[in-house]
Amino acid sequence: MDKMWAGRFLKALDKEADDFNSSIHFDCRMYRQDIRGSLAHAKMLEKCGILSTEDAALIQKGLNEILQDLDNGALQFDMDAEDIHMFIEAELTKRIGDAGKRLHTARSRNDQVAVDIRMYLRDEAAEIRSLLLALIGAVLEKAEQYSGAIMPGYTHLQRAQPIYFGQQLLAYCMMFLRDLGRLEDAVKRMNFSPLGSCALAGTSYPIDRAYTASLLGFDGVTMNSIDGVSDRDFCAELLSVFSIVMMHLSRFSEEIILWSSFEFRFIELDDSFTTGSSIMPQKKNPDMAELVRGKTGRVYGDLTALLTALKGLPLAYNKDMQEDKEAVFDAVDTVKKCLKVFAPMIATMKALPANMKKAAQTGFINATDVADYLVGNGMPFRAAYKISGQLVAECIEKDTVLEALPLETYLSFSELFGPDVYGFINIEACAEKRNSAGGTGKESMKTQIEYVKNCLADEK
Ligand code: ARG
Repeated sequence: MDKMWAGRFLKALDKEADDFNSSIHFDCRMYRQDIRGSLAHAKMLEKCGILSTEDAALIQKGLNEILQDLDNGALQFDMDAEDIHMFIEAELTKRIGDAGKRLHTARSRNDQVAVDIRMYLRDEAAEIRSLLLALIGAVLEKAEQYSGAIMPGYTHLQRAQPIYFGQQLLAYCMMFLRDLGRLEDAVKRMNFSPLGSCALAGTSYPIDRAYTASLLGFDGVTMNSIDGVSDRDFCAELLSVFSIVMMHLSRFSEEIILWSSFEFRFIELDDSFTTGSSIMPQKKNPDMAELVRGKTGRVYGDLTALLTALKGLPLAYNKDMQEDKEAVFDAVDTVKKCLKVFAPMIATMKALPANMKKAAQTGFINATDVADYLVGNGMPFRAAYKISGQLVAECIEKDTVLEALPLETYLSFSELFGPDVYGFINIEACAEKRNSAGGTGKESMKTQIEYVKNCLADEK
């Protein structure tokens, strides 16, 4: 098949080179955006008197039919085409003749592809936004359900202080809410139309860029034609957002993997989100969480590939930029797949509060509260900290816990101790009283739950 640009060439493109150059096998997924962009472009050309009403009507009809035929499978992509833009234009010309050849007036594939990916990513971002909202909803529900389940909170993966499981889950709600905000920011910045930048310098045709921008749902037009066709910041920005989403999912996955191990036994994942072993009959593996953790590296890889492809490029368009798409598509697909399995995995997960509580009762996680007790009775915190440490050492030696030490032992370390120390260092009381803003106390958790609910309501 003759290339559309065949005019100045004496020889056909080498077969290997042709395959190497072609992007249709991946950019075909933007066919809807490409057709939508062309429909708007044709309408604008007509409005500006660049295209006759008859030609515009033929183009309109032809493109709509192609869209329909691609949607219902009556038309297949021609994998020998150079890219989706060439394929659709060729198909249109095949169907409507000369009018099809007028569509590319005052346009270049450089601004065409730039507008296509923006629309594609805008659509995908909307879907990812809904998936994030669903995930936050699922995590919030678990947080409410387990707002009274005492467990050890960790630092350095060592038991640190008693918390409620709800507080741990609310932490993830906050992370995903920030991800949502980042996503919305990125979309806002991206939503400007580069169409009309043409090859790089704009055009002498009397086009109306604002008109196509409004037809396509953009908030305005990009301000500089060279930037319009060279800019892939929005891809890098969205992939950064996705990378952070994956980082959060991966941390959560790591905890789920730990918590569902026999060593912890804090949660049990539903059978429908776990797998067995081919040899060990007792196994119930958290494969979904492990895969999410594993796929995180893939999305980071996509971001790195994109940034690296862009870093040495002179302005304006370079063919290297065709490499943006596979990275973008892979990241979009991966994030969507992960979110789709993660939310129901959380929704069906059960906590095992009795095991959590048991773990909270060992590890001296109320040692800070022993010190706080002494501070309450007038001792400076550093001195109190030291005595609490000595009491922990005593417990280790006697193989007991702080709650079980006799009052005489307490009194032998400081006369400021009294019988009310036991109530003060009770594990549940320790969590319950931490009601500083953002703390694990029930009052504070209530405020957090309200906050997340309000955020979700505002997003509706
Ligand atoms: N397939 C190309 C891409 O994805 C479309 C733009 C081609 N432009 C050009 N001047 N060769 O980047």
